[in-house]
Amino acid sequence: MSLSPFPESYWLSSVDIPEFPALENTIETDIAVIGGGITGITTAYLLAKEGRKVTLATAGRLIGGTTGYTTAKVTAQHDLIYDEYLAHFGEEKARLYYRANQEAVEFIARLVEREGIDCDFVREDAYVYGTSDSSVDKIRKEYEAYERLGIPGAVVTELPIPVPVRAAIGMRNQARFHPVPYLVHLIKEFVRMGGVVYEHTTVKTVEESEPIRANVRDGVSILCRDLVSAAHFPVFESGLFFARLHAGSSYVLAARVPGELPAGMYISADSPTRSVRTVEYGGERLLLVGGESHKTGESACTIRHYEALEQWAREVFGAVEFPYRWSSNDFITTDNLPYIGRINEKKPHSYVATGYRKWGMTTGTVAALLLTDLLMGRANPYEELYSPSRLKLDPDVKTLVKQNADVAGHFIGGKLEWLSRKTEELKPDEGALVRIDGKKTGAYRDPEGELHLVDATCTHMGCEVKWNNADRTWDCPCHGSRFDYRGEVIEGPAAKPLAKVKE
Ligand code: FES
Repeated sequence: MSLSPFPESYWLSSVDIPEFPALENTIETDIAVIGGGITGITTAYLLAKEGRKVTLATAGRLIGGTTGYTTAKVTAQHDLIYDEYLAHFGEEKARLYYRANQEAVEFIARLVEREGIDCDFVREDAYVYGTSDSSVDKIRKEYEAYERLGIPGAVVTELPIPVPVRAAIGMRNQARFHPVPYLVHLIKEFVRMGGVVYEHTTVKTVEESEPIRANVRDGVSILCRDLVSAAHFPVFESGLFFARLHAGSSYVLAARVPGELPAGMYISADSPTRSVRTVEYGGERLLLVGGESHKTGESACTIRHYEALEQWAREVFGAVEFPYRWSSNDFITTDNLPYIGRINEKKPHSYVATGYRKWGMTTGTVAALLLTDLLMGRANPYEELYSPSRLKLDPDVKTLVKQNADVAGHFIGGKLEWLSRKTEELKPDEGALVRIDGKKTGAYRDPEGELHLVDATCTHMGCEVKWNNADRTWDCPCHGSRFDYRGEVIEGPAAKPLAKVKE
């Protein structure tokens, strides 16, 4: 394989992001926005424009979470979803979903133009393509849904990409961009308007009192009237989100391809998923190839997913070099519709946005616009659609039961798993589960030969983590928490690191 040994996001490597200090003392603010991705940054920016006193806090670096590991398609075409939404939610809600997301596309377009943001924003059509009988049938049904909902689209049988397309459904007037310069602009504007930013500030617990207390560590909290969780996983303990979300992983390669690259954005309807778009920034032109989705923590060898994408990019596009590779982790709700809004009516100051199902650029913007309206006391046409307290019988409950049965299976299976590896067998840059003093332990020998040992029991609810050999992380198959090889939390719901173990 000719991929770089360590993952690196093209987006994060190509633009500098301003740095901010960590929170050292308890502060008071009107609104606290927790999470430094597109949702948190756009929400903080919009609320500051409304004259509100806002503090934005993020666990690591700004744009260092899912937003920095996206394919950055700005589109209301989220796979083949409209036929499913028509069946599950009805015509009015399916239409509202399209409108909300198309408005998000137009919001970004207007902002880029008005503020002159240099972020490679290009209007392009988006396509879902099928290469099998079953996907052609699904595309036909999706087109019927487009017609019923008034979505401008068309079915075509040829595309400018060299895949054996049987049929494809296009959505016109969508867009792609580079999310980092766009968001850096919003961050600078937020600060210019008086907004306060803290990086490396992890909210560990939230007391939903008055004021709300977001606790960072002993003696350091953010006190606020309203709290918006725009983090990867909700920071609230209420809402039972761990039982209503499951985590998915997917992979992206940036490839150098000789000759002309096609315009347009593409994603396959068949499995394994293949997603394609180009990037042009700073004089470089690359092809982004993504896909290979699976439930987080359920892949026995994550590097194979990159290898599959590499082989596909070489065979289909003649790709010759792969300067960047990265993976992304997203949460998906039980009914495939994001949770955005007040957690429930009894908690009028607790707001959440999560479960974007991998379509974060538009959904994060929808969330920012919706949450801003709610926080400003304005009506918003999408409040009921995205309400986090909804629970619809079909398909929510069935999926909820299945997911929690899966979790129980992982919990028990992880405890019983037979371990044959020993620490002395581990080569440099190799990780595995081992037993030390009878206890299941995560072991990773770094490239310099130093051994790092952590307790393999996830600090969220006690499942056993799995080694991710592509990213050198410990991933939990139960609710998607991820830890680095030293045990530090990368993504929740876990808030505490894996305990260190001595040999
Ligand atoms: Fe819930 Fe690990 S993420 S037990």
